[in-house]
This record gives sequence, C-alpha cells and structure tokens, in this order.
Amino acid sequence: MSQRTDARRSLDPDTLLSVRDLSTRFFTQEGQVNAVESVSFDVRDNEILGIVGESGSGKSVTALSLIDLVESPGRVTDGEIWYYHPDLADEFRGEDGAQVEGDHVDLRTVPAQVRRALRGPSFGTIFQDPMSSFNPSITVGEQLAEAVEVQRRASANPRSTRSRTQGYGFARFLVDAVVPGRGYVSDSSMDRAIELLEQVGIPDPAARAEEYPSQFSGGMLQRAMIAQALAGEPDLLIADEPTTALDVTIQAQILDLLRDVQADRGMSVVLITHDLGVIARMSDRIDVMYAGEVVERGDLEAIFENPVHPYTRGLLGSIPDLQEPQPRLEPIAGNVPSLFDAEMGDGCYFADRCPNAMRSCLEKPPERPVDGTRAHRAKCVLVDRQYDPTEGLSKGANDSDDSTDSNAQAEKNASNARTEAAE
Ligand SMILES: Nc1ncnc2c1ncn2[C@@H]1O[C@H](COP(=O)(O)OP(=O)(O)OP(=O)(O)O)[C@@H](O)[C@H]1O
Ligand code: SF4
Ligand SMILES: [Mg+2]
Repeated sequence: MSQRTDARRSLDPDTLLSVRDLSTRFFTQEGQVNAVESVSFDVRDNEILGIVGESGSGKSVTALSLIDLVESPGRVTDGEIWYYHPDLADEFRGEDGAQVEGDHVDLRTVPAQVRRALRGPSFGTIFQDPMSSFNPSITVGEQLAEAVEVQRRASANPRSTRSRTQGYGFARFLVDAVVPGRGYVSDSSMDRAIELLEQVGIPDPAARAEEYPSQFSGGMLQRAMIAQALAGEPDLLIADEPTTALDVTIQAQILDLLRDVQADRGMSVVLITHDLGVIARMSDRIDVMYAGEVVERGDLEAIFENPVHPYTRGLLGSIPDLQEPQPRLEPIAGNVPSLFDAEMGDGCYFADRCPNAMRSCLEKPPERPVDGTRAHRAKCVLVDRQYDPTEGLSKGANDSDDSTDSNAQAEKNASNARTEAAE
C-alpha cells in the first residue's frame, strides 16, 4: 500500500466517501493493464457526482473498485476508500490494521466480508443492462422482496455472517441456500417491495410485482432495478450508464426519477456515463476521466463554462448541436491509448491526440488548481501557461485556426447542453 495520505485529516462529516490515490490493475497474460491510476475524488452528502469519459477510460472499473467487485485477474492495488460510517468506525477503532479517522473508516483496511455486507445497505448499484440483474424465472416482486430481506439482515450487523440467518431459522437458511432462486420472503418484505415499485413510478405495483422480468418493458425494468438498488436504503447510489440502453424519452423519465429519489432521500449518487448531455442535466460536480486518470474536475459551471483540459474541450465539442445539426458528429481524433503499463509512457496520456501538445507535455503534468481555485483542477500544462506553437509536437497543433474553431465549437455545444439540461 502507498504511503498513507494526509487527506483524511480534512475529512468532515458531510464527506460521505473520500477516495485517495486508488489504483486498479489487471494482471493479464499479455501484461499489466493500468485500468485505474491513482484516482482521487470525494462524494459529499446529498450530491450527484458525474464521472464522464470515453469508452475504456476506467469509469466502470473505478465503480467496481469502490464496492470490491473487481474480478480476477484484476485487483485494487493501491489507495484508500474513506467512508463515513460512525458505527463501523466505532467497531474498528483500535483494531489491528484497520484505519479509522473520526467517523470515517478506510474500507480497504477492514475484512472483505464487511465490505461485502455494505453492498446494499450502504452502496446501491444500477447498471446499464437491467435484464442481467434479474433472474428471469422469479417474479420481480419476489426478487425485490428478497433484496429487502437480505439488506435488513445484513444491516442488522454488517460484521457478522450470522445475521444472514437471523429471523427465519438456520434450517430455512440452508434450504434457501441449496435450492436456487428460493429465498425467504416475509409478507412485510413483499409489502416493502410493492411500495418500492410504486415509488419508482410503476403503475399497479401489486399486480406488477407478480410478473416476471420478461413481462416488463426496458424502461419499466430499469425502474425496477432502481427499486432494487433502493431496497437497502443506501447512502450512496452508483449508477453506471443507467440509461444508455433506453430510447430518448424513456431516458429522460429515468433521469428525472433518479433526480427525484436522490432529492427525496438526500442520498449521494455517483453517476457514470459517456454522455455529457446526461452529466449536464444531472450533476453537481464532474470528474472527467481519460486513460484511467481523472484529468479535470470541477462543478458543472467550471467544466462547461471554463474547461481547461483539451480532452474536456474535445468532449464538449463532440456533443451534438441540436440547433444546427451537423451531417455527422466530430469525434475526438485518435483512440484511447493502450492501458498496458509497458506502453503508457511517462508523459501526458492525451498527448498523441492533443491539438495543443508541446514538448513540456512529455513529462506528466500533476493535477493543479485552475485560476487558484481548489474546486476546479486539471492535469494539464495549460493550467498555468499558454499554448506555444513553437513548442508544438503535432502538425495539427500548429494550426491555430483549427484550435480556435474547436474551442468555439466546444463553447457553443456546452451552451446547448446547458439549455437542454435546463429544459
Ligand atoms: N477483465 C479485464 N481484463 C483486462 N483488462 C480489463 C478488464 N476489464 C477492464 N479492463 C481494462 O480496463 C479499462 C477500463 O475499463 P472500463 O470498463 O472501466 O471502461 P469504461 O470507462 O467503463 O468504458 P465504457 O464506457 O465502455 O463502459 C479497459 O479499457 C480495459 O483495458
Ligand atoms: S498536458 Fe499537454 S498534451 Fe496533455 S492535454 Fe495538456 S496540452 Fe495536451
Ligand atoms: Mg463502463
């Protein structure tokens, strides 16, 4: 583990989660893949943090790392995940190896079974494909009720696997464990399941609860998945591309629903998407990810009004202009780089695609505050210097007209995204 940071000293109770220098690697036969590299961010109470980036930038692996779901050959290799949980902090204070600071616990220093037990009651998850989250041969109501049941037992004592057997007897627990798909469901859990279906806007929830997943439309199933994630009354909802598979109208409804449940419950949300329109509509703060790193972070206004990193500008430039549709979108030229450790190099990972790349970019820029503000930060030399064409590395880089055009397009598209978000 890396040298522990001083960040925990500044943890305050309204910081629900503070992730410090988190790294996750896949140890494949072809070599080591640095999927997440020294990523740090905070999630505060009652806010939506948007994480945006192209495909392969490490968004999902970051989310999986938080909830300890990275599968072999992957592993979280470094970093700290400070979570505000006064009871857990009391339980682990003074225990060998466990790191506790005030009411925060570093989840990487507590046993895996504790982290597992936090999934549901502490961290709810919504993924892109609702079909894969439901068992096709069990009714939606029963599956939700089971989720309620499991969360109730787990939250009774997150530290103890015994709590899974409490309340309905060990013999029943064994039968349920060996007969697939048969979980114990009490009447009160089923009532709660129906209530949750109602809360996520499913009409006639009692009748719908008796239906199978295949009888639900995509949008309805996505609502049911949100209900499932809410079953444990989590502090943090991790929504990974929650609307990508849905058509635009249903997408808007699901986003509205997410906003409503977030506001009603005062919950925190980490919203992961490659869609800046969704980010603009939903987020309080934004982290922009590229090649496993957070390259720019700031509140909605900073990222949309004053993006500094050319990657962020490029993303803004690739939002479709709804007022004046282009024949086709202009994606950012080039591809996401290889994340193989041996091929990543020492400089800025975006240099190959950056229209402003200069000689100084061949050394990795540290994250620095933009305009001296703590909240808006970027990993780019342009934070504190102007682009100098005489130092330019690429042919396109010397074409200042192109650069100006792309900036103008980024500004125009950012403004459109904001208008869309306000509607
Ligand atoms: N099982 C795996 N084995 C090896 N490498 C992996 C594995 N899973 C992920 N990776 C690496 O991690 C990188 C980041 O993946 P991740 O799924 O986090 O991307 P993402 O930003 O969520 O992309 P998308 O928008 O397509 O969902 C991938 O490009 C890949 O290189
Ligand atoms: S550090 Fe250099 S190459 Fe990297 S994004 Fe900034 S200007 Fe471009
Ligand atoms: Mg993903």
